[in-house]
Amino acid sequence: MEHRKEPFAITLDSPKATMALGAALARAMGPGDVLALSGDLGAGKTTLAQGFFAELGHPGEVISPTFALMAEYPGERPGLHVDAYRLTCADDAVELGLDEYIDAGWMLVVEWAEIIRDALPDDIVRVTLLHDGDARKAVLEGTGPRGRAIARTVAG
Ligand SMILES: Nc1ncnc2c1ncn2[C@@H]1O[C@H](COP(=O)(O)OP(=O)(O)O)[C@@H](O)[C@H]1O
Ligand SMILES: [Mg+2]
Repeated sequence: MEHRKEPFAITLDSPKATMALGAALARAMGPGDVLALSGDLGAGKTTLAQGFFAELGHPGEVISPTFALMAEYPGERPGLHVDAYRLTCADDAVELGLDEYIDAGWMLVVEWAEIIRDALPDDIVRVTLLHDGDARKAVLEGTGPRGRAIARTVAG
């Protein structure tokens, strides 16, 4: 039997498909897991985050926290939405106290994660969103065993 190998590439034909990927990631992730989103402006990062937080019980609530930097979605499975667009380096992110959220079992969804990569844990799941004509493509990969397990659950 053939198994798909990382990095996994998925075609997303509509915003709904992008949201469904976010929801699948939310189901696969657990306390303290981090989802790092990369991709140009308009690539679908916030749309994916909307699907993620809808799955956690917050449908219709999510906007990019570009100016607030982060938004809390507390609950039985608490999640933190971070937008690093306005940050310039990992040092800025340390002040946000992301480690404390992770230690407390919150799941993190980070837009523009590459800007603050050094402030994030080593073992995370990374999703890069790319324009593909009018549609989008998502590339999923883990940076360690836990991240790889999540990527495989969702896309393998
Ligand atoms: N798979 C897709 N196919 C086509 N359009 C999409 C897809 N996913 C998201 N979009 C649309 O792309 C636009 C930008 O999405 P957004 O999530 O705000 O991007 P970002 O946060 O990366 O800047 C939105 O209008 C959204 O509905
Ligand atoms: Mg956005």
